[in-house]
Amino acid sequence: MSHPFTLSNGVTIPSPGFGTYLMPEEPATVDAIVQALRLGYRHIDTAYFYGNETCVGEAIRASGLPREEIFVTSKVWNTDRGYQPTLAAFEKTMTHLGLDYLDLYLIHWPAYADKYDNWEDINRETWRAMTELYQSGRVRAIGVSNFKPHHLKALLEGPVKPMVDQIELNPGWQQRETVAFCAQHDILIEAWSPLGRGRVLGHPLLAELGRKYSKTPAQICLRWCLDKGYLPLPKSVTPSRIRENLNIFDFALTPEDIARLDALPPFGESGRDPDNVPF
Ligand code: A2P
Repeated sequence: MSHPFTLSNGVTIPSPGFGTYLMPEEPATVDAIVQALRLGYRHIDTAYFYGNETCVGEAIRASGLPREEIFVTSKVWNTDRGYQPTLAAFEKTMTHLGLDYLDLYLIHWPAYADKYDNWEDINRETWRAMTELYQSGRVRAIGVSNFKPHHLKALLEGPVKPMVDQIELNPGWQQRETVAFCAQHDILIEAWSPLGRGRVLGHPLLAELGRKYSKTPAQICLRWCLDKGYLPLPKSVTPSRIRENLNIFDFALTPEDIARLDALPPFGESGRDPDNVPF
């Protein structure tokens, strides 16, 4: 009931991951994550910014599963960019999670040119801290989120290359340039909002393919991610959907159907441009 990927450093990463954005710090979030772990998810994606890292740690302990069976990702927030602030932010995250190592640590958003003259240096300094955390063994893998090729280029000069780029990706928002760049550099693409936060699910092609494969439009989106080599991170607090989003391993899309989805024009983006985010 899983479709693991292997990162460029050999670390295995279970798929799909369970996204937790917009899940507040409350008992219902712990319940949803425990439910996800019971159903078979082995990869939980959180971030300092989500404010729910303590719930993730609590759910992992409540699940009774051995720590090493669960892959945990968190991210350094924009106000903690730079070398020292990133190291300090990591310690806060580990305290919240109550864990002694992290599986994957990501830079949440790039510093960008419209906001900072020295945006490349800021990203390089943040990355220097990430590299140190990786080399010291506190984190098993490191990467970025919402980085486009021009943001990534500055990081590729360092001794450790990003292993993951987690970007907004679904059949209605395919980010082809970033995907191609990451393929060239052996960077795994993780898809946040693989369902376009519901926006793309009403598209007629997804309905048609859903009927053909006896699956829901959400399952078609998630299977398309797997078949393309992207690791999807669906988010849900609804038990039936948490289950539904895992039930994607008993079918595969034909190359013709993948090509039809690949050819869709953009229609599912959130509008959050990494070169102009409001935070
Ligand atoms: P909910 O959490 O209330 O179940 P994304 O992962 O693309 O960001 O999308 C998350 C949104 O899509 C949430 O609002 C979630 O609602 C909803 N969602 C999650 N899974 C499904 C599904 N299988 N079918 C329809 N909507 C879903």
